[in-house]
Amino acid sequence: MSLEKSIKDKSARIGILGLGYVGLPLGVEFARKGFSVVGFEVNPAVIAGLNKGRSHVADVPSSALGGLLSAGRFKATGKFDELARMDAVIICVPTPLRKSKEPDVSYILKATKEIAPRLRKGQLVVLESTTYPGTTKELVLPLIQSESGLKVGRDFQLAFSPERVDPGNRTYKIHNTPKVVGGVTPACTELAARLYGEVVNAVVSVTSTEAAEMVKLLENTFRAVNIGLVNELAQMCHRLRLNVWEIIGAAATKPFGYMPFYPGPGIGGHCIPLDPHYLAWKMKSLNFEPRFIELAGVINSAMPEFVVRRLAEILNLDGRSVRGSRVLVLGVAYKPNVPDMRESPAIDVVKLLADQGAKVAYHDPHVPTLEVEGIKLASKPLSDATLRSADVVAVLTAHSQVDYRRVAARARRVFDARNAMNGQRGSKVFRL
Ligand SMILES: NC(=O)c1ccc[n+]([C@@H]2O[C@H](COP(=O)([O-])OP(=O)(O)OC[C@H]3O[C@@H](n4cnc5c(N)ncnc54)[C@H](O)[C@@H]3O)[C@@H](O)[C@H]2O)c1
Repeated sequence: MSLEKSIKDKSARIGILGLGYVGLPLGVEFARKGFSVVGFEVNPAVIAGLNKGRSHVADVPSSALGGLLSAGRFKATGKFDELARMDAVIICVPTPLRKSKEPDVSYILKATKEIAPRLRKGQLVVLESTTYPGTTKELVLPLIQSESGLKVGRDFQLAFSPERVDPGNRTYKIHNTPKVVGGVTPACTELAARLYGEVVNAVVSVTSTEAAEMVKLLENTFRAVNIGLVNELAQMCHRLRLNVWEIIGAAATKPFGYMPFYPGPGIGGHCIPLDPHYLAWKMKSLNFEPRFIELAGVINSAMPEFVVRRLAEILNLDGRSVRGSRVLVLGVAYKPNVPDMRESPAIDVVKLLADQGAKVAYHDPHVPTLEVEGIKLASKPLSDATLRSADVVAVLTAHSQVDYRRVAARARRVFDARNAMNGQRGSKVFRL
């Protein structure tokens, strides 16, 4: 049967490589729509947990797995030989940065090497991992063709489709977030669009894999640059003794031509701090200086230092130095209401404070323990005593279950990097 047909009647077998934040929700969505899904993983703990119905990804409740496992529509495995049985294979492996800020595409290469020798005629391969423009055609395609002896467009189809998961977003999930698809050939695009059309409401086809790769990088660079702009604006407002949140709030009333972004203690998560560097690296290799990306990176990555400087100024009001002061960090996850610590700027703030001799404690309802360069901390209960004993409370992430009125009432001094204290007045609350 052709893949078009088996996609339509949902008999197509879907293989997902990498069952993390991206691959697991995607695999579960295909399985929920009636497809039979096999998740290929290299982490034995993830495989064992999932096959017992335990999800390790916050957006996928364990309750969603049980029925799919017992119906035989989802399983996790480390046996890559099963790839040959799949009709469509989707790669969702990590794409980190090296310390030098160069792309680390080794996971993509390893996944491709698992697929290539087992590829058979009629299969569709899609890369979802965020990467620089050219990866699918320059790295994945030659590897698959040379190892399999099969030809793209004729024997198998290959496409890139950027992943747009926003962990913790309650409104936008896989099904109602349009999916961009670009294939090596028009037939590749068409087939990949059909596959995703089964799980998302809208598919947007672009003319090439490079275009699809660039779409993702535009989206994330747009965020990084705009956050960089408001982070610099926050510093300007501090010098001008203006409330940056008031300025942004008023500007956001303009019904056209403006979109609000908000400052903070830095940028975190798996995408915004990393992905623009994939584009920067590619452009530098073409002798092009990507200035916006570089500047946003410089401003955003300096925000933890700005936060610590502001905390030092606040402590100074009470005649205290950072050394020996008790600082309670409120919220350490990189964004509200999730346990995700990846690239969280709170890590840098805690480290900078500890380096200067502060006694740092933290409270985060989602993050029970934290380790920063050998310093092990456990989340303190947010009792009145905890709040009162700190010389300053630094709100770095505004989780919604925290009672900020109580924080403002009990704490000696508060530095609010997220405007969580919006509406709380008084000389002890200081905003970013
Ligand atoms: N998390 C997000 O919010 C997000 C958003 C947009 C884009 N992305 C992109 O999606 C991709 C995946 O990110 P993620 O957050 O899901 O990563 P993750 O670390 O949560 O999950 C990746 C999984 O892949 C597994 N893996 C590694 N090598 C493998 C291999 N050779 N075969 C099979 N499995 C393998 C890992 O064990 C891990 O479980 C990255 O390119 C990332 O930039 C992530």
